[in-house]
Amino acid sequence: MESSGKTVTGKALLEKIRSDFIGLDTKYETVGGKQTRRVYLDSTASSLMLRAAAQITADFMRHYSNTHSKLHHSAHISTSAYDWAHERVLSFLGADPSIYTCFFTGSGTTGGINRMARVFRDAQPDKDTAIISIMEHHSNDLPHRKHMKYVHHIPVEGLDENQMCISLPKLEAALRDGGGRVSYVSITAVSNVTGIINPIHDIARLAHKYGALIMVDGAQSVAHLPTQMFHPDDPDACIDALVFSGHKTYTPGSPGVVVARKDHLLSIEPEEVGGGMVDRVLEDRYLVKETFPDREEAGTPNIPGAIALATTIEILDRIGMQTLLEEEDKVIEGAINRMAEIPDIIVYGGTNLKACPRAASISFNITGIDHGLVGAILNDYFNIAVRNQCFCAHPYVKEMMSDVLLAEFGEIDFGNMSPEFMRKAGMVRASFGVYSTHEDVALLIRALKDIIKNIDTYKLEYKLNSENDYVHKSYKVDSEGIFNIFGAVNQYIDE
Ligand SMILES: Cc1ncc(COP(=O)(O)O)c(C=O)c1O
Repeated sequence: MESSGKTVTGKALLEKIRSDFIGLDTKYETVGGKQTRRVYLDSTASSLMLRAAAQITADFMRHYSNTHSKLHHSAHISTSAYDWAHERVLSFLGADPSIYTCFFTGSGTTGGINRMARVFRDAQPDKDTAIISIMEHHSNDLPHRKHMKYVHHIPVEGLDENQMCISLPKLEAALRDGGGRVSYVSITAVSNVTGIINPIHDIARLAHKYGALIMVDGAQSVAHLPTQMFHPDDPDACIDALVFSGHKTYTPGSPGVVVARKDHLLSIEPEEVGGGMVDRVLEDRYLVKETFPDREEAGTPNIPGAIALATTIEILDRIGMQTLLEEEDKVIEGAINRMAEIPDIIVYGGTNLKACPRAASISFNITGIDHGLVGAILNDYFNIAVRNQCFCAHPYVKEMMSDVLLAEFGEIDFGNMSPEFMRKAGMVRASFGVYSTHEDVALLIRALKDIIKNIDTYKLEYKLNSENDYVHKSYKVDSEGIFNIFGAVNQYIDE
């Protein structure tokens, strides 16, 4: 493709795309009937879509066909674009293609972690233990419980300073005590609750020192900070496998991604078998391809999704992940500092960002107000979209809320499903992406101050429904009236 020679990069490109995400101008009606812009602070769950990726993928769809062939023009174009998507991910993550492969999986990070847990288990049959931390999302916990015999949870430390970071001395002790039975360590690069950034290369060095592999859950890091999996001068710092989700990388509808060392994958038969990953199939045997990524991608992949994701990654890379990190840092720092000034707000995890760097997420509570009520008021009155509850990270949330819950309930039992307990055992999470602005933070802070000041008035407006959710007594949004699939289809047909 011809370049104009004037390609925009760095901050200039960031300024160009920052406000070009689908949904930034979405408006909803709030209590009182006013239409306002939705402030999207739920990017950790799923980020908004980069319009360029949607448009370029729509253009590609004119040429769409299945891959694994270069016979007709469309097959050629699709195969080349899909091959490029793999190469793009590898170079974005600093993964040398002679050592690593990239393959796309079905269901986000969860699918990839399940897959790699089975790969590491089968590739090292003499080892039966996985080490994770209590900071992990359930998707980086339950797959190891299911596929490995033993799972050791490393605690977080720095309770006094409220840091909530993984304890490296305890990790080392667990590796040492494992006596060579530890197959791998699997750790999130960034917590989806506190946004705390883990030192994945220090963790890799520890894992490798004791003969274990390292898998990184990159669901919350890949879109927010630079990643360098391969370090030729420091082999122990290399990451053996990293898994992430396209829908958290500004590309909803794209698949999950695994980047892993080929040697581990080659030592066993691929976990999934079917068309596309074999050279020959005879009645009594089949010959698995040696070439990557084909041998790891049985069946027809999500070709448009992978291409859309790689397009997003191309654009992020042209801006530079360090630039993106620095820009996001300013927004996060502004939010944390302003929250920390409000005495009624408890921010979870260390708030000194030098000692405890963070990305993407801030979880908090307002003293004496249920997380569900705060989330509902933010939505209904201020059109601010946040998330509440435990964010699929029960052990970590429990650890951080233990004092409050102990004081209120006399014991902390996360098996306790009583409505009273559920209303208290949880947090509110505001999370950010490349499109989040200082104005978004200012709106959030103003809203939180208003909630604290007028909580008694707000409380009168809410009741609990049968699902234990706070619902406004009179304000109701007809979401079907805002968007309805049948309506959209009918409109298309009638036009
Ligand atoms: C840290 C982390 N790991 C794993 C997951 C699971 O990702 P997915 O839903 O794409 O499978 C999430 C989702 O929120 C997450 O935040």
